[in-house]
Amino acid sequence: MRIITIALQKGGTGKSTTAHALGQGLQQQGFRVLFVDVDPQGNLSSTMAAEAGRPTAYDVLTKKTTAQEATQQTAQGAIIPASPQLSGADLEITQTGKEYRLKEALRPIRNKYDFCIIDTPPALGTLTINALTAATEVIIPVQADTYSIHGITQLYSTISAVKEYCNSDLRVEGILITRYNNRTILSRDLADIIDSTAQQLGTKLFKTTIREGIAIKEAQARREPLYSYAPASNPAKDYQDFIVEYLQATKGAK
Ligand SMILES: Nc1ncnc2c1ncn2[C@@H]1O[C@H](COP(=O)(O)OP(=O)(O)OP(=O)(O)O)[C@@H](O)[C@H]1O
Ligand SMILES: [Mg+2]
Repeated sequence: MRIITIALQKGGTGKSTTAHALGQGLQQQGFRVLFVDVDPQGNLSSTMAAEAGRPTAYDVLTKKTTAQEATQQTAQGAIIPASPQLSGADLEITQTGKEYRLKEALRPIRNKYDFCIIDTPPALGTLTINALTAATEVIIPVQADTYSIHGITQLYSTISAVKEYCNSDLRVEGILITRYNNRTILSRDLADIIDSTAQQLGTKLFKTTIREGIAIKEAQARREPLYSYAPASNPAKDYQDFIVEYLQATKGAK
């Protein structure tokens, strides 16, 4: 099972949207996908219409239940949903080995799925560290703005620490520009800066960029996958292109 963590500590850069679109697209191609939501906001869980009152990622991280028991089958696929209780994780999960909780929990189910997609909160605490430690690879969704660029550099120092202490095999597959509007010169300039930042950090900017499109918000409000709600919309086409690019770039990865 490949475990893809979607991370950036800046808020609203398209993490949950990317986690959802990537996972749904992989499912459409016949891959077995498990979604994991470790963001206390629970946006991915809500988009996938996960049921409340069932075991969550919080219960898994605090070892109250197993990943298998916390996995829900929704109409859109299998998910270990989030809980608002996750917001206490930094204070509650403090024992030695705390970084490995999610990795260990996913190990017993690693043959049940081809891909696990983990959505993370806009923070660099225990939850994101757990997701990076469990991951085989990371995708960093950014918007073409200055704060995102600062965010990438900060995230990189966390990733370097995770690689050094917890997960030496972690691959940073690349940076994905989302909510892109190529009509502005500023966006184009910032995309160039993100490209060179990526290179300096030893990763790359994906060729595909995800354009802005109202269909994203509409599909999320209706709790429908983007591809069935608005298959011809720009973001739907862009995410499909991104998945092709991603699978091609990571061919042979395990
Ligand atoms: N390509 C797009 N076009 C238009 N709107 C988008 C696009 N991508 C994301 N959005 C919208 O932008 C907002 C932020 O996106 P999203 O929730 O995916 O970001 P996030 O990084 O997960 O945020 P957070 O850091 O709060 O978890 C959402 O309202 C979403 O609907
Ligand atoms: Mg989110």
